Amino acid sequence: MTIIAVIGGTGVYDPDMLEDVQQEVISTSYGEVRLTRGRFQGRPVAFMPRHGGDHSVPPHRINYRANIAALHQLGTKRIIATAAVGSLNPDFKPGSMVIVDQFIDFTKSRVSTFYEGDERGVIHTDVTEPYCPELRKALFEVATSTGPHVFDRGTYVCTEGPRFETAAEIKMYSILGGDVVGMTTVPEAVLARELGICYATVAMVTNFAAGISPNKLTHEEVVSFMQSNIIRLRKVITTAIERIPQESGCGCGLVPEKIKAR
Ligand code: HPA
Repeated sequence: MTIIAVIGGTGVYDPDMLEDVQQEVISTSYGEVRLTRGRFQGRPVAFMPRHGGDHSVPPHRINYRANIAALHQLGTKRIIATAAVGSLNPDFKPGSMVIVDQFIDFTKSRVSTFYEGDERGVIHTDVTEPYCPELRKALFEVATSTGPHVFDRGTYVCTEGPRFETAAEIKMYSILGGDVVGMTTVPEAVLARELGICYATVAMVTNFAAGISPNKLTHEEVVSFMQSNIIRLRKVITTAIERIPQESGCGCGLVPEKIKAR
């Protein structure tokens, strides 16, 4: 049966919606990964807290390749990721959920491919539509059923972090067409696509971005905002898991060449 994985971002650390839970350590060519496996409504689900269960791994130090390779080894076909984001768009107020459809990559130091020109060769992956349209549709429908302020598209600007942005950076990202800003979707979305795994992100707006918000930003504020919205976010994820069709009709699996991520 198709495995669905949930990658929990900031504020989403525990898989307490799952039954038959077991902890596993998966060994990959890129390092070991700890994750939890279980079932939800009979469907096999894997859960991975992106920053570790205690938020000890900053965004630029996450072993994205090991994480995605581990999920691929388990047979994961779909990934639902959560992400806390700041908003650049006056319509996307704190508390909004954005099922992002595009990203702009401002990361600097991350290895963002499985194809390093070694025995796996060189592959240039199409990311015209970087997030799975089928998963996005399902997430939008279920998120809308849980409450207001859900947006079916938006451009995620991915920064290197771990610092927040300057006001000038946010102004520039806004001119470039960014709607929300965060630190993690790149290279996660790209690596998933390289392995033909459907991937979508539910971005939860926790704050207006630097220079738009009148206040200084703090990580504590982001975490506490996520905690106060966790019940709704969990509902979106669990309902999406129930509703996602077993067979996918999107083209995410049609990658030019599949590698064995060991
Ligand atoms: N910037 C970057 N990442 C974030 C923000 C932000 O304003 N809010 C939550 N994650």
